[in-house]
Amino acid sequence: MERLQKYISECGVTSRRKAEDLILSGKVKVNGEVVKILGTKVNKSDIVEVNGKVIEGEKKEYYLLYKPREVISAISDNHKRKVVTDLIDTKARIYPIGRLDYDTTGIILLTNDGTLSNILSHPSHDITKEYIAKVKGFFKKEDATTLSNGIILNGIKTKKAKFKLDRYDKKTDSSYIKVIITEGRNHQVKDMLSSLGYKVLKLKREKYAFLTLDKLKSGEYRPLTIKEVKALYSLK
Ligand code: URA
Repeated sequence: MERLQKYISECGVTSRRKAEDLILSGKVKVNGEVVKILGTKVNKSDIVEVNGKVIEGEKKEYYLLYKPREVISAISDNHKRKVVTDLIDTKARIYPIGRLDYDTTGIILLTNDGTLSNILSHPSHDITKEYIAKVKGFFKKEDATTLSNGIILNGIKTKKAKFKLDRYDKKTDSSYIKVIITEGRNHQVKDMLSSLGYKVLKLKREKYAFLTLDKLKSGEYRPLTIKEVKALYSLK
């Protein structure tokens, strides 16, 4: 439960002081009734209208999480496995933007801002995602070219991408490949590499648009800054 004027200001409508004026002048309705008493308590399930317009029930929150292995990119799981929202301490109804596989690690964004989520998930917006994939064997140059130019995956050609050998480890006979894609199809990196016979042993997303993991450790997170949120909005 929250005081009405605080609730209105937290929804980004106006300052708390101005919200008080709006309430006193009869411009605010709660569940269809004009409320003129300052300090009236409301909760998320109440419908609050200001000047005849329903305002969103929750302050927008934005997080960048370093997802560990063995965590599901969802808000709940039927098999009671850990989900990404378990790792973030908030009461807001946040959810992940896009998905990383259960065994994929790295950067994932979470928010309760549906508008931003839609912008970033829309295929036409070409948000770049950067991965490092560890595969068995030596990653051949011609295979890097083939994958970068696009291959047919489930009947549809993949968009232009960048696949590049970063390092070959002779001892373990494995290659570390830098991958940059703009699409977000399910299991895309693994499926592209396995279509040419490479088994992905590890996959980590190191960059999402301009955001990196920075100094975060696996399982840690941080809120995005207002500047970062604005920059993400401008990607549309
Ligand atoms: N591609 C994959 O194959 N898996 C992921 O988790 C992300 C991209």
